[in-house]
Amino acid sequence: MEKQDTILHCTVFLLLLFQILSSPKPAACKSTIEPCTNNDSCNALLGYTLYTDLKVSEVASLFQIDPISLLTANAIDISYPDVEHHILPSKLFIKVPISCSCVDGIRKSVSTHYRTRPSDTLSSIADSVYGGLVSADQLSEANSISDPSVLDVGQSLVVPLPCTCFNGTDNSLPAIYMSYVVQPVDSLAAIAARYFTTLTDLMDVNAMGSTAITDGDILAIPIPACASNFPKSSADFGLLVPNGSYAITAGHCVQCSCGPRDLNLYCMPASLAVSCSSMQCKNSNLMVGNVTVQQGSGGCNVTSCSYDGIVNGTIMTTLTPSLQPRCPGPQQFPPLVAPPTSVRRDSELAPAPSPQSDGIGLGTPKSSVVPSTTGLPGFPPANGPISALSSGASAACSLVIPLPTLTSSLVLLLVKLMIPALL
Ligand SMILES: *[C@@H]1O[C@H](CO)[C@@H](O)[C@H](O)[C@H]1NC(C)=O
Ligand SMILES: *[C@@H]1O[C@H](CO)[C@@H](O)[C@H](O)[C@H]1NC(C)=O
Ligand SMILES: *[C@@H]1O[C@H](CO)[C@@H](O)[C@H](O)[C@H]1NC(C)=O
Ligand SMILES: *[C@@H]1O[C@H](CO)[C@@H](O)[C@H](O)[C@H]1NC(C)=O
Ligand SMILES: *[C@@H]1O[C@H](CO)[C@@H](O)[C@H](O)[C@H]1NC(C)=O
Ligand SMILES: *[C@@H]1O[C@H](CO)[C@@H](O)[C@H](O)[C@H]1NC(C)=O
Repeated sequence: MEKQDTILHCTVFLLLLFQILSSPKPAACKSTIEPCTNNDSCNALLGYTLYTDLKVSEVASLFQIDPISLLTANAIDISYPDVEHHILPSKLFIKVPISCSCVDGIRKSVSTHYRTRPSDTLSSIADSVYGGLVSADQLSEANSISDPSVLDVGQSLVVPLPCTCFNGTDNSLPAIYMSYVVQPVDSLAAIAARYFTTLTDLMDVNAMGSTAITDGDILAIPIPACASNFPKSSADFGLLVPNGSYAITAGHCVQCSCGPRDLNLYCMPASLAVSCSSMQCKNSNLMVGNVTVQQGSGGCNVTSCSYDGIVNGTIMTTLTPSLQPRCPGPQQFPPLVAPPTSVRRDSELAPAPSPQSDGIGLGTPKSSVVPSTTGLPGFPPANGPISALSSGASAACSLVIPLPTLTSSLVLLLVKLMIPALL
């Protein structure tokens, strides 16, 4: 009698387990998807954590972007000698500027290709090389791979990457969106604090019903930006530069910056040695970026020569006279950082800015000896929880996939445990 009951119970339990096993997988990681109808592309950012030491040029080629753009997007000083061959340290978090288009009705970036190397697997490419920005499933789908165990070396794979535009605005102010892979130590409040936004805003942007996040989720994080107003015919139409950073445009001829004082885009000739078309404003001796001020009785007479896009290889300029109540001070620029040589873990994991605590209990002695180890812009030093950012961080989502394996071992275990009970 008792034994029969046990058998019955166990059978029911096993049936339930098998039902769980055969039911569809729970949705693994959440990712914010923006539907789109037009194919206008926009500037977007990817939050990327290096999986190993890589040269600036190697990171750039991973995403097929210009190394200079990668550096300027992170306010890294490009005047360092041979800066493109500088080695960036493993686990460094950087912002990768990409172009976000509209493909099959949703926003994504599809301009990145990856050439497979020996010992690559779809999971290693997704979780490690691209830091969880793409999943193995998305890779196999985008490349119609029926058998993921057979990857030819040297095969070129499309790497679909998440991005959003949301009209280049957040609460009606210009903003650029960064796709961010949630790390195990993250909380939504900490992310909001780190990027100077609010919980409410993050929840609205990502259409979240609660503040719960799981590592591997991909969030769209709005970053205030300077908008351009170039004519539609210009090659860099719609240029958006995130606060605290720079962008190089017009064939490396023009450098634009955003912040820190205001969110007005400021462009001037870039210092890179390239030949450029004239950057002088018509009917004046002012060059792009020049501003003249003249204090008059009625206010300040400000005349500025500004960059207005590049049309058909020609740099466009606009001379704007204006009368302002007060003369503006000299142009301010976002602070540049030296090419990073080591990673300050705290700068990525800090929940909130707290300038006073810089360095207290943080960083290994090794990193404090190396100069210029400060976090990149947007990651103020802070006294956050010191926990190791494990290398497999973004692999957590794919842990969902091996679940059936886990469950079947559980079944086996239960069967083993039941045997004594049945005897
Ligand atoms: C965008 O769509 C229009 C019409 O739908 C097409 O003519 C144009 O080539 C497309 N542009 C890109 C960049 O796909
Ligand atoms: C899109 O942004 C522009 C300014 O950049 C604004 O004028 C327009 O109203 C926005 N459109 C929507 C649908 O939010
Ligand atoms: C832009 O960045 C600077 C410094 O990083 C900050 O002080 C300023 O508040 C930011 N502006 C906006 C609108 O977020
Ligand atoms: C105008 O801009 C150029 C290039 O940035 C600079 O070299 C020059 O000093 C500026 N002239 C004035 C009058 O500000
Ligand atoms: C401002 O400067 C322009 C050209 O330099 C001049 O024509 C105009 O009269 C000036 N306006 C005032 C209010 O000083
Ligand atoms: C660019 O300019 C050249 C000559 O000025 C002209 O022939 C050509 O049609 C232009 N191309 C475009 C795309 O406007």
